[in-house]
Parts: sequence; structure tokens; C-alpha cells
Amino acid sequence: MIKTELCQLLGVQYPIMQAPMGPYDTTELAAAVSNAGGFGVVSHPGAAKEVALKALDSPAEYLEELIEDVKAKVRNALHWVKEHTDCPFGLNLRVAPEHPEVPNLVDMIIEEREKDQDLKKKLRLIITSAGDPGQLHLKKIQEAGMLRFHTVPSVYHARKAEQSGVDAIVATGYEAGGHVAYQPVHTFVLIPAVVEAVKVPVIAGGGICDGAGLVAALAFGAAGIYIGTRFIASKECEFHPRSKEEIIQASKKFPKEASTIVTEGFFGPLRHLKNAYSRKLYELTQSGADRGEILQYEFNGIYLGFGPEGNVENGALWAGQVAERLDKILPAKEIIDRVMKEAEEKLRSLPQRFLSP
Ligand SMILES: Cc1cc2nc3c(=O)[nH]c(=O)nc-3n(C[C@H](O)[C@H](O)[C@H](O)COP(=O)(O)O)c2cc1C
Repeated sequence: MIKTELCQLLGVQYPIMQAPMGPYDTTELAAAVSNAGGFGVVSHPGAAKEVALKALDSPAEYLEELIEDVKAKVRNALHWVKEHTDCPFGLNLRVAPEHPEVPNLVDMIIEEREKDQDLKKKLRLIITSAGDPGQLHLKKIQEAGMLRFHTVPSVYHARKAEQSGVDAIVATGYEAGGHVAYQPVHTFVLIPAVVEAVKVPVIAGGGICDGAGLVAALAFGAAGIYIGTRFIASKECEFHPRSKEEIIQASKKFPKEASTIVTEGFFGPLRHLKNAYSRKLYELTQSGADRGEILQYEFNGIYLGFGPEGNVENGALWAGQVAERLDKILPAKEIIDRVMKEAEEKLRSLPQRFLSP
């Protein structure tokens, strides 16, 4: 049985965390992952499209409505997961300035935990990401008795996060799906460098889908792994079935070229599966199109791909390079069991194969 300090810190069986994938829901997925011995994470939801559009046009007038919309979604998701697992789970908050709802969310979460002892027991962790980890209101998370991890793409950001007092750091390499760094550093280089730079535990993400990935992460000094794209292709993931199918077809669809592309649009660098949407977004950004046009185009695509429309050509399909290694949609429990079984086999076989007596 593989045990690391992450298992102890989070109170879980296995050192496997499900990465959050907002603005999409990972509510059922989080419960499934936690029930399977991993650590499930509720994603930071987006506001309903109509509300977000109104708030973009006229922030002062619609800010309150946006905050209430996101608060209701987070509250419902947390209670849903609490009702569907006896195990610990977490929540992600993207703490960039584009998310003015975060201070209200932090207060609401603390209140909900105080009102509901079961939620207090199970909601152990908030993972902050995509912004300054030193913001004052984030201190309330640990003061209320929760753990806080912060996600980083570089050694510089890891040091900053450690200085802000987080309990652990999630380091994700450029292979990852969704938001990636402006200055690319890949997992193979990033993880050992971050482990060397900080004293708190480090969790490795970006391109990990199997037991070999877990063993490699442990060999680099990480305390566990953080898996996003592999869990999109899971039975319990709430994303549109057509979008999950696109992920597992990536290697067949792109036999001669990489299946993903990074765009630098209005929302910063994002790794997507290649489709009509991401290629056009790439062209717009490369041709120096108007920022307003890019924002409009990018925003319109965000809900189309993984959301209820399942428009896999004209919608965003954020996914990591590891999509090319996936060929089956599996139950979350099977994904976790396979990772653990393979990692244990590898750990046992490596000395026999490579260490001389
Ligand atoms: C569809 C999608 C949405 C994501 N949304 C978020 C998010 O809301 N917050 C965040 O911190 N990271 C987000 N990420 C990044 C993941 O949390 C994680 O770092 C990444 O998936 C790990 O790499 P992998 O996809 O290769 O496993 C997203 C990734 C994907 C694929």
C-alpha cells in the first residue's frame, strides 16, 4: 500500500487528487473520486451565461446578481457532495481579480460549515488558484480550520505561495489542460524544482494519468498527484458525453500532429483540444484581432463544448496533452484502482529490474 504525507494531511486512502475543472461542474465527479479513496474537488462554477453577460456589460449594476448566482451554485454543490460521500473533499476558488465574488464565497463557506457539522467534517480543503495567494481574505480559510493549497506553474510562484502560508503547493506543468503558464515549464522539470524550492508538501499535476505517473511524481519528491483530463474521461464526469468522446478519440483524430493547442486570448493561456473553435481563437490572437472581438468569441465558446449543447466543433474543449494517451471512459473508481495497482507493481519491479544485488 502506498502512503504519503498527503494521505495523512487530507485523511484519504490514496495520494490522488481530482483537479478542479471550472467553470464546469465536477460535483458528481468529486463525490465519486472521494468515495473511491481519492480526494474529490468541487470546481469554482461560472455564473449563468445571461448573468455573466449582463455583468460584463454593466458590472456595477449586475455585480450583486453575479455574486448571488455563483454563491448559490457553490452552496448547492458543497451540500450535494456532502450528502453523497462519507469521505473528505475540497473546493477550488480562482482568486483572480475577474472573480469579485471570492471574498463573499469565503464568508458563505465558513458560515455553512459552522451551521452544518457534517459539512465541517468533510470539507477539508480549499485550493486557491489563478491569482495572488497572499490576499488578506484568504487567511480566513485556515483560521476557520480548513487547509489551503495553492496551484502554481513555476518556482517563483511556489515560493510566493509558501510565503503566504499555504499548507501545500500544487505544481502543474505546461502539459496540463485548461489554464497554463505564460512561460512554459513542463512537469518533468517543474516538479523537482518546486520540491527543492519549498518546504511544504508538493502535489504534481499536468500530464499524469497512470501509475507510472504517480511513481515518477513520488520519485521527484512530490507527495501525490493531481489529475484533470484523465477524469474528464470518467463515467461520473458531468461534461457532455460527446466532449468526453472527443478526449478519448484524440490520438486517432490527430495521428500526425499534436492534439492540443495553447491559445493566449482574453482569459490568458489555455490548452484546448484542437477543433474549429480553438483553431479560430488561435488565429484571432495571432492576427492581432481586436480585444473586444477576442473576448466575445472566447466567451461564447466556453459553455458550448463541455456544457449541455455538446458542440464539440464550435465550443471550447480544454484538455491536456495526456488526452492522446486515453482510449476509454472508465468509472472514477476504476481509474483510481488502476493507478494504484500499476504504481505498486512498478515500485516493486523497479529494484528487481535495475538494482544489482
Ligand atoms: C476543462 C478544464 C477546466 C479547468 N478549470 C480549472 C479551474 O477552474 N481552476 C483551476 O485551478 N484549474 C483548472 N484547470 C486545470 C486543472 O485543475 C489541472 O491543473 C489540470 O487539468 C492538470 O493537468 P491534466 O489535465 O494534464 O491532468 C482546468 C482544466 C481543465 C481540463
